Amino acid sequence: MSNTAVQKFKKIREQAAEVVKDSRIDRSDKLQQICQLLADEVEVFDWVGFYLVDSDADRELVLGPYVGEATDHTRIPFGKGICGQAAETNETFVVQDVSKEDNYLACSIEVKAEIVAPVKKDGEFVAELDIDSHTRDSMTDDHRELVEDICEQVAPLF
Ligand code: SME
Repeated sequence: MSNTAVQKFKKIREQAAEVVKDSRIDRSDKLQQICQLLADEVEVFDWVGFYLVDSDADRELVLGPYVGEATDHTRIPFGKGICGQAAETNETFVVQDVSKEDNYLACSIEVKAEIVAPVKKDGEFVAELDIDSHTRDSMTDDHRELVEDICEQVAPLF
């Protein structure tokens, strides 16, 4: 990663930290602002959203704050799609070419790559950050680290 890119990612992390500690806004607004920040600042991030564990349902995710096109997948059972698989394993799932995935829920034909990282509260899976890209092979290790760092930062909000 170039020095400029390193600085940019560092700034995104710092801005996310500011949002997390802003006592004037609630969790939902914080997550919304973080989605906006990532969508605005990272060129290949075309859809950015949080899915939350629905505590009233049996192993099901419910769509939370997001930035990007509306999706039909507002509820996703654990195990289904990339999101459901990340929920089941509690691990980051990176897909560079979604056309090669059998267990995948398409939101739009534009989407080519996806990364989903878990938000863990005391090790327990509570939510996930899902990012779609319209560019195949676009998810780098630096993106993965950034997304995982954001998930760690928001975990105390749960
Ligand atoms: N593609 C995801 C579904 C959620 S959308 O990307 C917003 C999946 O396969 O789980």
